[in-house]
Amino acid sequence: MTDTQVVAEWYNQNATLEHNRLNTCRLEFSVSLRIIDQCLGQLQQHTDQPLRILDLGGGTGRYAVELARKGHLVTLVDISSSELELAKSFAAESGVTLEAFVEADARTIQVDPEGRNQRSVFTTCTYDLILCQGPMYHLLEESERRRVLCACASMLRADGILAVAFVTHYAHLRDIAQRAPARLATEMDRFYREYLSSGRYTRNPSMASYHTKVEDVRGLFRKVDGLLRTPGSNAGLNLSRIVACEGFLGGGLAGKLGDLSPDEYEHWVDVVMQFAEDEALLGNADHLLAIAERRE
Ligand SMILES: C[S@@+](CC[C@H](N)C(=O)[O-])C[C@H]1O[C@@H](n2cnc3c(N)ncnc32)[C@H](O)[C@@H]1O
Repeated sequence: MTDTQVVAEWYNQNATLEHNRLNTCRLEFSVSLRIIDQCLGQLQQHTDQPLRILDLGGGTGRYAVELARKGHLVTLVDISSSELELAKSFAAESGVTLEAFVEADARTIQVDPEGRNQRSVFTTCTYDLILCQGPMYHLLEESERRRVLCACASMLRADGILAVAFVTHYAHLRDIAQRAPARLATEMDRFYREYLSSGRYTRNPSMASYHTKVEDVRGLFRKVDGLLRTPGSNAGLNLSRIVACEGFLGGGLAGKLGDLSPDEYEHWVDVVMQFAEDEALLGNADHLLAIAERRE
C-alpha cells in the first residue's frame, strides 16, 4: 500500500519547483494541452454550455487555470495543501475563478450518488472531463490505480472523457543513463531487477513513485473496463488513445525548444503532434497521456 502522506509531504516541500516544472517541460505541457483541447472540441459537439471539469492531482493549477480561461467550470483537487495554496494565488493572479480547491487523496475518494451530498465535489455522473495527471505517478499497487480510475469513471457523465497521465520506465532509465550510468550494474540485484518488473520506484525513502509500460497501461484500462461492465449493458470505460507527451523528443531532447520564439516553437509542437500517437514512438516519451471515454 502506498504511503500517500510521504507523497503529500514531498509536494508540500517542493510546491514552487513543481509550479515551474511545466516551464522547463514545455513540450509535455503543450502537447497535453492540445490533446485536452481536442477532447473539449469533442465534448462541445453536444453542448454550447461551459463544461464541468475535475482536475485530480492538478497541483498548482497549471492546467486548471488554462481551462478556466476558456470559460469552463473547473474543480481542482490535490493531496498537497501547499500546492493548493499556490494554485489559489496563481488563479487569482491569472484573473480566473475556479469552482473549488479541495485537499483530498485520490486513493480514498468516496463517490456519493448524484444529489445526495450537496457539498461533496465527488459525486456520480457530474463531470464532462476529468484530468488525472499525477496520482498514477505515485500509486504503487495496481489495486490502488484501479480504484482511482473506477472512482473517476463513476464521476463522469455518459460519454465524458478521462485523461490519465503516466510516467514510463524508460524516462527513469534514460535519466540514469545520463546522470549515473554505473548505477544499473551496482544496484541490479538490490533494486533494479524488482523495479523493472513491478515499476515501483521506492529507492528514495522520501518519495514513492510508480513507472509504467505501454502494455501495462492498456492492461490497467482493460481491467477497469471489466469492473465497470454490468450484464446486459454496454457500460464501461473505453481506452481510445495513448499519446506520447514529449513525442519523439523524450529524455531531455526538447530542452532547447524553450529558447525559441513562440512561432518557431509552435512549428515543433505541430510536428511532434503529427507523430505523438505513433505506436513505435510511445517509448520515446517520458509521459504518456491515456484518453478514455465513459460508456453508459
Ligand atoms: C507531477 S505533479 C503533476 C501536476 C499537474 N497535474 C501536472 O500535470 O503538471 C503530480 C501531482 O499529483 C498529486 N498527487 C499525487 N498523488 C496524489 C493522490 N494520491 N491524490 C491526489 N493528488 C495526488 C501531487 O500532489 C502533485 O500535485
